[in-house]
Amino acid sequence: MKVLVDGEIVARSAVKVDMEDRGYQFGDGVYEVINVYDGVPFTLDEHIERLYRSAQEIGISINFESDHLKNDIRKLIQENDMKKGGLYLQVTRGVAPRTHQYLKDISSKLVAYPLPYKEMSESRSTGVTAITEQDLRWLRCDIKSLNLLYNIMIKQKAYEQGCFEAILIRDGVVTEGTSSNVFIIKNGTIYTHPATNLILNGITRQKLLEVYHENGWTFKEHPFTTQELLEADEVFVTSTTSEVVPVISIDGKDVNDGRPGSLTRKIQQAFSLTVKNETSSAVG
Ligand code: PDD
Repeated sequence: MKVLVDGEIVARSAVKVDMEDRGYQFGDGVYEVINVYDGVPFTLDEHIERLYRSAQEIGISINFESDHLKNDIRKLIQENDMKKGGLYLQVTRGVAPRTHQYLKDISSKLVAYPLPYKEMSESRSTGVTAITEQDLRWLRCDIKSLNLLYNIMIKQKAYEQGCFEAILIRDGVVTEGTSSNVFIIKNGTIYTHPATNLILNGITRQKLLEVYHENGWTFKEHPFTTQELLEADEVFVTSTTSEVVPVISIDGKDVNDGRPGSLTRKIQQAFSLTVKNETSSAVG
């Protein structure tokens, strides 16, 4: 596997991580996961823009211009002869003797590489199960930070119960999943939590809002409660690698009689069409 490290593409075996990298010690960094379709990175501009925003919010400066980084990513895809799957990209604050405070002049570290391909088509077609959990994360969930401790603890809990996702609840309101955004449909209207500091504004989420608009589907970026989640007609979660996944059971209780809903199906199809249009027009 070829890996992008600070502007150079090298073999994975050549990568050395310093034990005093602040990403390694503090989770002091930010990341993105980008999906590649037919060799083309989908919504690359949006992901790179969010990466720079996340970095800026925690005072990390990325050593490359965004256009340069986008070209490096395209090169990385080519060098790996990558046709489909996720691409991981992270920037840490850099290497320094371990103290909580940091010197502003340390140089950030960037790595990017292809993730192992994860087949999701069955989950997309049959739907998945979820649990609900309290959202005990910090109050800057809009930053795509490497600090995912609570997310991974709760995701693990869901997996150990045979579930795909845990849906997080803060003060009685559904925020998002541990690694996804959550949507419900009630009486034909699609709801999702507004893009505040309490959620990550998913790129899939943003794309879907455009898709709803184009298709004339009614949607509201409006908070909804646990009870509204459990009484929804349809529920689905979204993320870069999983796309649009129907949720057919929550806390052991069926959603839509345990079957993916019809509007969810239409949304999946419309999203796939958008991906197809955007990734084929990007070629050449
Ligand atoms: N996770 N919310 C959280 C907390 C996430 O971690 C993610 C994505 C999303 C969806 O964002 P997007 O549509 O931009 O992928 C929402 C990625 C895929 C991950 O950590 O692997």
